[in-house]
Amino acid sequence: MLPLLLVFAVQAALAEVGSAACKACHAVHFERQSATGHARALSLPSAHPMASKFSALVDFKPEWAFGGGQQAVTFVSRVRTGAYIEHGLSYYTSLGRMDATPGHAAAKGPGVLYPVISGEAEILRCFQCHSTGQVRVGEGLRISVTEPGVRCESCHGPGEKHVFAPGLGNVVNPASYSAAEMNQACGSCHRKPAAAGDNTDWNDPWNTRHQPLYLAESACFLKSEGKLSCGTCHDVHGGGAAKPSCGGCHVKPRHAAATAVVGKKCQSCHMPVVVPRPGLAFANHWIGVYAPGRPLRPIARGR
Ligand code: HEC
Ligand code: HEC
Ligand code: HEC
Ligand code: HEC
Ligand code: HEC
Ligand code: HEC
Ligand code: HEC
Repeated sequence: MLPLLLVFAVQAALAEVGSAACKACHAVHFERQSATGHARALSLPSAHPMASKFSALVDFKPEWAFGGGQQAVTFVSRVRTGAYIEHGLSYYTSLGRMDATPGHAAAKGPGVLYPVISGEAEILRCFQCHSTGQVRVGEGLRISVTEPGVRCESCHGPGEKHVFAPGLGNVVNPASYSAAEMNQACGSCHRKPAAAGDNTDWNDPWNTRHQPLYLAESACFLKSEGKLSCGTCHDVHGGGAAKPSCGGCHVKPRHAAATAVVGKKCQSCHMPVVVPRPGLAFANHWIGVYAPGRPLRPIARGR
């Protein structure tokens, strides 16, 4: 708990102003970003774009909806002073129904209870990655957030100074990041590349959701002199489908005659989809050559 409190103390010196303040001068960024999964990563269930689908949940009064609904929505509620529950049923968009929450053993289980005050601070961490600015614990050990969802100041830092003196900069501009720095910045929520000595289980399909970790293993990333970063393929303010510009670096890839590439997207073979459980799917960001039916780890090509 102590390190977390220290982080809060340092952050308190700089104030978040909220995305509405940025809208006044960056209207286009604001409108586009508001439609992304990031902006909807945390909301009140009643305000969620899929609210009508959650009627099966009236029994246990969900307080917070985690997840924009591109893949799934998990519900969290305060059950008593100092305790929150992650509900056992989540809504899976591609299945069109509720099913067991990721990581929970049984469907229809009551859920997992988390103390607010704990060494691991698990429930506070949920809110930290799914909201912007400081996460506070108030009266009755109730958790509140500065702004729900991943908004401007998650990536640009607290905007107080910039809003009053924009001409002086005073704001983080990730345009200046190197590819490795971008991996770190996005990785603060999507998980960072492995440090030397880390032992990643590449056979665990759940790990493929850690895109920075996987991208950092790719020959494309390692051998392109820092030219390949998250922003090469993703529109950070617009969301939507990735646009991998493979052709910018691979003008004429060498394929065997037997490899039927015509009419298929490059990523369908080189970033295969991994399904850790029904209803969730992740593109393997370790770009490489894969054997059919083995999407977890590319074939070592010995060069
Ligand atoms: C009062 C108007 C105003 C507000 C409010 C404002 N900005 Fe800006 N912002 C500017 C101006 C002016 C520039 C510099 C000119 C340009 O490149 O558009 C700028 C530039 C930026 C840049 C690029 C900085 C650089 O080093 O090139 C970022 C990033 C940015 N703003 C983010 C934000 C965020 C995030 C917010 C909300 C916290 C915000 N702005 C609120 C006016 C504003
Ligand atoms: C503060 C935490 C945080 C940071 C920083 C962050 N993300 Fe995310 N990101 C999330 C969460 C949470 C979701 C899940 C949203 C949902 O449920 O749809 C997500 C979803 C996404 C998605 C899929 C949904 C969509 O809108 O397309 C992409 C792509 C993505 N992030 C890319 C990035 C990139 C690139 C960066 C760095 C520039 C980044 N993220 C930084 C937390 C973060
Ligand atoms: C380290 C940051 C982090 C923490 C902690 C975290 N999340 Fe997330 N969460 C993410 C990111 C990033 C995504 C986007 C995953 C993707 O699509 O690759 C995400 C996605 C989700 C989704 C959408 C479905 C899915 O699995 O992709 C739900 C629901 C969700 N998180 C709920 C939670 C809950 C509940 C907790 C706490 C028990 C939690 N998260 C803790 C970063 C985090
Ligand atoms: C997930 C991280 C993320 C979020 C959230 C985010 N930005 Fe950015 N922003 C970036 C990155 C990365 C860049 C630099 C490269 C680029 O523009 O793609 C950037 C660049 C900018 C710039 C500089 C001009 C430009 O487009 O290059 C402005 C202005 C800006 N962002 C404003 C905003 C505002 C306003 C919001 C909220 C409505 C916002 N950003 C939300 C990551 C983010
Ligand atoms: C910024 C440039 C860049 C981009 C963009 C890029 N790559 Fe690469 N890629 C490279 C480089 C450099 C290598 C290493 C070439 C070598 O070793 O001869 C490589 C290697 C590869 C390999 C061989 C992998 C191995 O393990 O040997 C494949 C397959 C590949 N890329 C596919 C793709 C696909 C598909 C995309 C788009 C999703 C893509 N690349 C995007 C630069 C890039
Ligand atoms: C070479 C292109 C490329 C790069 C670089 C890239 N992505 Fe992706 N990403 C994709 C593709 C393709 C998908 C599949 C879904 C789609 O088409 O939008 C995807 C999907 C995602 C998703 C949705 C969940 C999933 O795994 O399918 C997230 C989150 C994401 N990327 C985050 C990141 C982050 C963070 C980085 C930087 C570490 C990154 N991506 C770098 C191409 C790329
Ligand atoms: C049907 C699956 C499939 C599709 C689609 C596909 N590839 Fe490949 N790719 C392979 C296989 C398999 C290999 C290994 C060589 C072989 O057996 O043809 C390979 C090899 C490569 C290599 C390494 C050889 C070299 O030239 O250095 C690159 C780079 C590459 N592909 C890029 C791409 C790009 C870019 C696209 C999209 C334009 C693409 N691939 C589409 C299956 C595919």
